[in-house]
Amino acid sequence: MKVFITRIISEQGRRLLEEAGVEIMEWKEQRPLSRDELIANCLQCDALLSVSTRLDADFFDACSHLKVIALHSVGFDHVDIAAATSLNIPVGNTPGVLSTATADTAFLLMLATSRKAFYLHKTIEKGEWGFFEPTANLGIELRAKTLGVYGLGKIGLEMARCCKAAFGMKIIYHNRTRNQEAEQELNAKWLPFEDLLQQSDVITVHTALTPETEGKFGRTAFNLMKSTAIFINTARGAIHQEEDLIKALEEGEIWGAGLDVTNPEPMRSNHPLLNMPNVAVLPHIGSATQETRASMSELAARNVIAALKGLQIPFPVNPEVYTRGL
Ligand code: DGY
Repeated sequence: MKVFITRIISEQGRRLLEEAGVEIMEWKEQRPLSRDELIANCLQCDALLSVSTRLDADFFDACSHLKVIALHSVGFDHVDIAAATSLNIPVGNTPGVLSTATADTAFLLMLATSRKAFYLHKTIEKGEWGFFEPTANLGIELRAKTLGVYGLGKIGLEMARCCKAAFGMKIIYHNRTRNQEAEQELNAKWLPFEDLLQQSDVITVHTALTPETEGKFGRTAFNLMKSTAIFINTARGAIHQEEDLIKALEEGEIWGAGLDVTNPEPMRSNHPLLNMPNVAVLPHIGSATQETRASMSELAARNVIAALKGLQIPFPVNPEVYTRGL
């Protein structure tokens, strides 16, 4: 049995595959593979362990023989799940293990934005650390402020816990369904979306990218937010509208923004957001810790191994492939 892996992954996951007797073919070049290269490699394998590779209906038509697609991510917006399901191919993801690392990144961006940290670091490099002015470089304090979580699932809950523990922040949130755990543990309060926008000092986005959430943070949303508010997105860049975000910052509709995700990715090096004082941008490193990437590689490997043994995969995003026709 053979698996094709589209990028080099952590040793821990590779070891699990080897111990299970799965042969590994991996893409080692420092560039994304082309569609033809992806299909040619998959045609020689029984399983695909996919890192950041778009998989659409045409891909599934060409590779309908695959026994499993194991994603090296919790998000699966880059995969045509309906196409996989129609071919009875289970798709697995890596839930849970990246919640704390991603929440840490959101917390880091919130603090960095509130104190203009990334921008001020650049001023030192440019030789601009000069005369001290008591009213220059002023940030915003976070103690006892209100955190608005858009998408209070596992990652949002971790971010809310950090903000409550560190700064005693009040937690409000908007979800399709209520999060009882957060309501009990953190006294979090559910609000309609517009109220969340109006009442939050910091809005942090932790929802999946879906047709409902795509472009959700645009002109109308920024308009409703406080002029002192900070917008944080560590989920997916397509959830905010970048041109509208720039305008909202330029026109003072909101105060600052911290982004770990942009639209598109990678962000171009001369992007206007990179030169704004109250903005902090990172290159999608939410889950990028040694511990988390090791765990993600293990979960992805476990999905591959189970499928190749003819078992149900432990972390399916389309479990209906196992229940249809029963
Ligand atoms: C995920 O797992 O979805 C993270 O965004 C890393 O890509």
